[in-house]
Amino acid sequence: MIQINENFTKLSESYLFTEIARRVKAYTSENPNADIIKMGIGDVTLPLPKACIEAMHKAVDEMAVKETFRGYGPEQGYEFLQEKIRDFDFATRGVTLSNDEIFISDGAKSDTGNITDILGSGNTIAVTDPVYPVYVDTNVMAGRQNIVYMPVTKENGFVPELPKEDVSVLYLCFPNNPTGTVLKKDELKVFVDYALKHKALILFDAAYEAFITEDNVPHSIYEIEGAKEVAIEFRSYSKTAGFTGTRCSYTVVPKECTGYDKNGKAFSLNHFWKRRQCTKFNGTPYIIQRAAEAIYTPEGSSQVMEIINYYLNNAKIIREGLTKKGFEVFGGVNSPYIWLKTPEKDSWKFFDYLLKEKNIVTTPGAGFGKSGEGYIRLTAFNTKEKTIEAMERI
Ligand code: MLT
Repeated sequence: MIQINENFTKLSESYLFTEIARRVKAYTSENPNADIIKMGIGDVTLPLPKACIEAMHKAVDEMAVKETFRGYGPEQGYEFLQEKIRDFDFATRGVTLSNDEIFISDGAKSDTGNITDILGSGNTIAVTDPVYPVYVDTNVMAGRQNIVYMPVTKENGFVPELPKEDVSVLYLCFPNNPTGTVLKKDELKVFVDYALKHKALILFDAAYEAFITEDNVPHSIYEIEGAKEVAIEFRSYSKTAGFTGTRCSYTVVPKECTGYDKNGKAFSLNHFWKRRQCTKFNGTPYIIQRAAEAIYTPEGSSQVMEIINYYLNNAKIIREGLTKKGFEVFGGVNSPYIWLKTPEKDSWKFFDYLLKEKNIVTTPGAGFGKSGEGYIRLTAFNTKEKTIEAMERI
């Protein structure tokens, strides 16, 4: 008789964004003429930057010719992309990395989920609350029940407190999904110091770093002294350059980053992650990596800046529009997400109200955890016109 992974029975019935899609589908099939404005899942609406499109066309042509055709690429990614990441995303911020500390992948969602493969089952995990559900669900799937929540709320200024329990793995996502808030350098340093002292590991999700506008907000955790020993960082091109449907991201695992066996013997997590990727992953497609590389050209980077500024302007429209209507809002300054305090306590009820009465799709805060109750998340990823219209409808 086939045995199931019983950990799956401990998960909620469906994934947050699947449930939202189900409710939207049910509503639109009964109301086919409803003019729905999507501000739910963080999916982008602007096309890919022109530089990426041109690079992809060129790469497609290379694939059509025997001399330039590419089969399997290096599992860890092509050096042409690693070099750009090393020089433009990190060296410019005073962080020195080598190519073999950068692993190109097909999405920060996959990597933040897959990273659990290299972690022992006995770890106690700390996550913020509210939290991107992937961190929790993937640990539950792997049989880890010891999950500690660090509330991120209006009351603590959206700065998580260190857990009281002794934890060995901490997930931090800043700029934060879902609240859109950030940590300053000294606030992030508290976590790095904790990890150094406790030989713990920080899994730092920086998928939204390109939206940072304020000074003193770290773009990379490696801007904090000592972080290379205790942190793995995830980056994504999804929101930065419109790659949600194209799929490219990367993960940084410094050579110094260390994990321990039960006898306290130290091992390099860089080696473990490399071993994991070589076994289970055959690399991001060549064409896609060429598209990502184009982001680092002068044209590419100015096109990306234009896209980011467009979404940041939408975020401003949302923040100001809602504030004018008397709502309390957070985020949206260094992030494409706006966190709105709902007039009624039940965020799923408010989600349904906005869907049915205003035809606006949002994400209920409760879907991100207990401390998300009483909030909804809006994204700035729709068009400017639709964003303005949504504010008028509200
Ligand atoms: C979100 O809406 O939270 C994100 O789009 C989800 C993701 O990146 O997987």
